[in-house]
Amino acid sequence: MNDKLIIFDTTLRDGEQSPGASMTREEKVRIARALERMRVDVIEAGFPIASPGDFEAVKAVADTIEESTVCGLARALDRDIDRAGEALAGAASARIHTFIATSPIHMQMKLRMSPDAVLEQAVAAVKRARKYTDDVEFSPEDAGRSEPDFLCRVLEAVIDAGATTVNIPDTVGYNLPQQFGELIGELITRVPNADKAVFSVHCHNDLGLAVANSLSAVLAGARQVECTINGLGERAGNAALEEVVMAVRTRQDVFPCNVAHIDTTQIVPCSRLVSSITGFAVQPNKAIVGANAFAHESGIHQDGVLKSRETYEIMRAEDVGWSANRMVLGKHSGRNAFRTRLAELGVTFDSEEELNAAFVRFKELADKKHEIYDDDLQALVTETNLEAINERIKLVALRVCSETGETPEATVTLNVDGEEKSGKSRGGGPVDATFKAIESIVGSGAELQLYSVNNITSGTDSQGEVTVRLEKDGRIVNGQGADTDIVIASAKAYINALNKIFLPEDREHPQV
Ligand code: KIV
Ligand code: ZN
Repeated sequence: MNDKLIIFDTTLRDGEQSPGASMTREEKVRIARALERMRVDVIEAGFPIASPGDFEAVKAVADTIEESTVCGLARALDRDIDRAGEALAGAASARIHTFIATSPIHMQMKLRMSPDAVLEQAVAAVKRARKYTDDVEFSPEDAGRSEPDFLCRVLEAVIDAGATTVNIPDTVGYNLPQQFGELIGELITRVPNADKAVFSVHCHNDLGLAVANSLSAVLAGARQVECTINGLGERAGNAALEEVVMAVRTRQDVFPCNVAHIDTTQIVPCSRLVSSITGFAVQPNKAIVGANAFAHESGIHQDGVLKSRETYEIMRAEDVGWSANRMVLGKHSGRNAFRTRLAELGVTFDSEEELNAAFVRFKELADKKHEIYDDDLQALVTETNLEAINERIKLVALRVCSETGETPEATVTLNVDGEEKSGKSRGGGPVDATFKAIESIVGSGAELQLYSVNNITSGTDSQGEVTVRLEKDGRIVNGQGADTDIVIASAKAYINALNKIFLPEDREHPQV
């Protein structure tokens, strides 16, 4: 029987656990809309108990999304489950995902609980979640290092208690494909009521095996895969959605299930959106969504592809959305065309003022760059949303002198808490001088962990999208900025990161 493979996207939850990748409510809604356009089955929107902001973000996604199921994560605790139930109350289709660790090391060292107490708490959590929705998922955290006998006991009990999906996480990315497939096969065979629930998998990529492990589990009977766009996620990330989906779609000769419901042409636009919002650039040789994934460098390959595409291509670039980044607007486009295209991309405005502010930015950009692509529009919306975060520190002016044989010098004027302040500095390059000039005013003491520039479209008039990662007292934030001038984009990104690092942090991490 060729079943449907359920695609459960956790970009907004596990993806958000990547260092510095936290997303605002508006950003989550934008990504959720893109996932809905892709027709993913389940969108895990966050961990509602983590903070009031996380609760609001999950609620906003739940209230917006109509076609996909919206899921909220909850530890196996009453207060977590109640908060998730509350956040999801407005969803067209809601799922609560509750979990507790089952491996000896997690039970002894983290939970300090006996296996029987863990089992009891798991059952109680599922029963409580069922009060809010009929769609309840249970995960035995660190299942990949749990004892199969105990896993079987727990899974049987939670399915009896009402879990409709049981998810087997390889939390620390320790498993190997054959072993993980065998574990899934063993669980499906040994759990007496296995036919009453969907078996799911959630693999981390610490050994680079998340996709391979997930696919092995599918061959062994799993019918849901938890994954993220671009493989974003805790530490080395999760299984990449685009790789799982395209592997199953391309190798229908092997897989006993299908992903025919997924609109794969939305993959590349969604990948770019997630990368622009989180500041996590996609490596050029990344499968499916990397810039080189469909580029043929060698003359022999090009010749072959020109004669017959199938000689070197197993998928078509257009099937995953590589041609979707259309040139859509230009200098003469009006407000209506601007609003309409953004609505098609899932971006709407709460008020005419917001639309007007974004349209002014669009006109400024169109003066500098004649052809505006979808990715430019997405970056423009990201920039507009960043303004809400950039409350304390704003860029007023920047002047940079860079000349052969001379040390670059930057003069920066910032508005800090309503007061204009200027600073000047020299540096190894114009960006270094700019960051030092900003620091001479702010004195944050934060450590620069990452600086990266990406061109949003091709061509030398492209906007540069800059990510700056700062660390201070163990807290990590990513700042973003975009501009046709990459030094200005860099200054914007640095200032955005500073604004984030000064925001109070009051979030709980689900797995700590
Ligand atoms: O990796 C993991 O175990 C998780 C659980 C919360 C499912 O993310
Ligand atoms: Zn995880």
